[in-house]
Amino acid sequence: CGIVGYVGHRSALDVVLDGLRRLEYRGYDSAGVAMLDGQGGLRVERKAGRLANLEARLDEVGRDGLAGTTGIGHTRWATHGAPIDKNSHPHRDATGRVAVVHNGIIENFVALRSELEAEGVELSSDTDTETAAHLVGRAYRDGETAGDLPASVRAVCRRLEGAFTLVVTHGDEPGMVVAARRSSPLVVGVGDGETFVASDVAAFIEHTRDAVELGQDQVVVITREGYEVTDFHGEAARATPFRVDWDLSAAEKGGHEYFMLKEIEEQPEALANTLRGHFVNGRIVLDEQRMSDQDLRDVDKVFVIACGSSYHAGLVAKYAIEHWCRLPVEVELASEFRYRDPVLDRDTLVVAISQSGETADTLEAVRHAREQKARVLAICNTNGAQIPRESDAVLYTHAGPEIGVASTKAFLAQIVANYLVGLALAQARGTKYPDEVAREFAELEAMPEAVSRVLTTVERVRALGRELADSKAVLFLGRHVGFPVALEGALKLKELAYMHAEGFAAGELKHGPIALIEEGLPVVVVMPSPKDNPVVHTKLVSNISEIQARGARTIVIASENDDIVRPFADHLIEIPAVPTLLQPLVSTVPLQVLAAEIARSRGYDVDKPRNLAKSVTVE
Ligand code: G6P
Repeated sequence: CGIVGYVGHRSALDVVLDGLRRLEYRGYDSAGVAMLDGQGGLRVERKAGRLANLEARLDEVGRDGLAGTTGIGHTRWATHGAPIDKNSHPHRDATGRVAVVHNGIIENFVALRSELEAEGVELSSDTDTETAAHLVGRAYRDGETAGDLPASVRAVCRRLEGAFTLVVTHGDEPGMVVAARRSSPLVVGVGDGETFVASDVAAFIEHTRDAVELGQDQVVVITREGYEVTDFHGEAARATPFRVDWDLSAAEKGGHEYFMLKEIEEQPEALANTLRGHFVNGRIVLDEQRMSDQDLRDVDKVFVIACGSSYHAGLVAKYAIEHWCRLPVEVELASEFRYRDPVLDRDTLVVAISQSGETADTLEAVRHAREQKARVLAICNTNGAQIPRESDAVLYTHAGPEIGVASTKAFLAQIVANYLVGLALAQARGTKYPDEVAREFAELEAMPEAVSRVLTTVERVRALGRELADSKAVLFLGRHVGFPVALEGALKLKELAYMHAEGFAAGELKHGPIALIEEGLPVVVVMPSPKDNPVVHTKLVSNISEIQARGARTIVIASENDDIVRPFADHLIEIPAVPTLLQPLVSTVPLQVLAAEIARSRGYDVDKPRNLAKSVTVE
């Protein structure tokens, strides 16, 4: 979910709506605002669906009583309760004086709900959040926290279990907004006579670049004059100030119809920026390393953990790290890793990949790994996010803000970052000579140019996308690093075009999935270069003939001048010939374009696919 709070001198409604627009990628099941008029009035407006629905409602009902300079807002990714009006945030207590927005899950909400119901409180939604609103209302009304909003919020936080960010306003306290954080992200923006609080700096970057990252279990009170941080018990606490180093244009579409299309174009730059500064005096260097070189040398096993597209980047990494470092690498979905009993010790390196750095599944897996004494190296696209903060070493992908929900430039940058980690390990362990490391790095440095070349040839892929828009399903096949690329191609199509899509290891086809092949079914095959990997190439050519013989329509992604595969391709998509391990960086690009174009032809918003959110901060 996306959260914004504001206290200042402008129209809070304008600031909050602008902020929500920039946070909408975090969830778009519903949107809502609560505004204080400064004279004791508190008005809430909320609506299911996109932010546009809320704005239409504001136009319909009028903006009277919404002219104040203090307010909060929310854009929701539903967890408890269907995405309908009554479950939209902000939620109020029975008096209607308290308004609360929330990101996360209050795990003990069933007990809290029963407690409230036993007292005769009538709840008007199915959400966990509403319980917090009633509890804050009660704490502000009675007992030792009466009349003290920050103390009331702190008292409630001490009772809540789970992961949550709460932002609270009270009609009687027009000069402040109180926010609390446990796990889910929260940043403060410090302006001149105005202060912001949000789940992401994108919400206030237009107004200030001075930001403060709240720590675990902290409460912040923002006023026009600034902010004050305490822990849940009211003791003064320290949060971390930082300056945002990207500007607004990076978070805008720059003439593109969708962020995703802009982000696909930005991939060469994302790769170049991720590589920059990581090869110094003949050595690979990480961004942050709170573990010794000896620790790196001692690593005897690697786990890569991640979710979604980041997991696919991890699958690609396995091939390189095992090959270069002679270390066993296991790649696992973070949510599965966390709740089994993986064998970990001091010499295990866990590589956690997360664009946002805040995915709850990955964060919990990191915490579990560290409890078991493993070292954690984070690959992350968001400076100072929770996962890198809790890790022993960090390598940032410098892809810039990624707004499209489906990952593109961050995915490519993650692959490159993983390769840097592989080279850093090979260097520490001596499994590669310095000149070999230098050669591999030089090959990586040639990749932005190769990706640029792919981008100049995608028009034909778009045309193909329009042709395939009515297909029932599409299959994707690959071998070696082409296998995770096939998985990523299928995921892109599922998430953007809502089309049935599956990725398979081409060799496994004959063991089951081949039964799916029928006349005219589009099958995308990711070929390795015949020169660089002739053995795998030959096997794949056989797999293509098997499916062609059964009537599939073959769409083949192959290196330029691959004359062997040409006769087997109903559609040939050519990519630059690059070394096998680097091929995912070029072969993924046409698959992104294909999925985006199919989705557009079907009339879908490629930036905000249904049911999804960019940062999933619940498990
Ligand atoms: C969400 C997004 C995916 C993303 C995954 C992991 O599900 O919709 O696009 O790959 O989270 O996100 P992370 O920020 O941890 O890389």
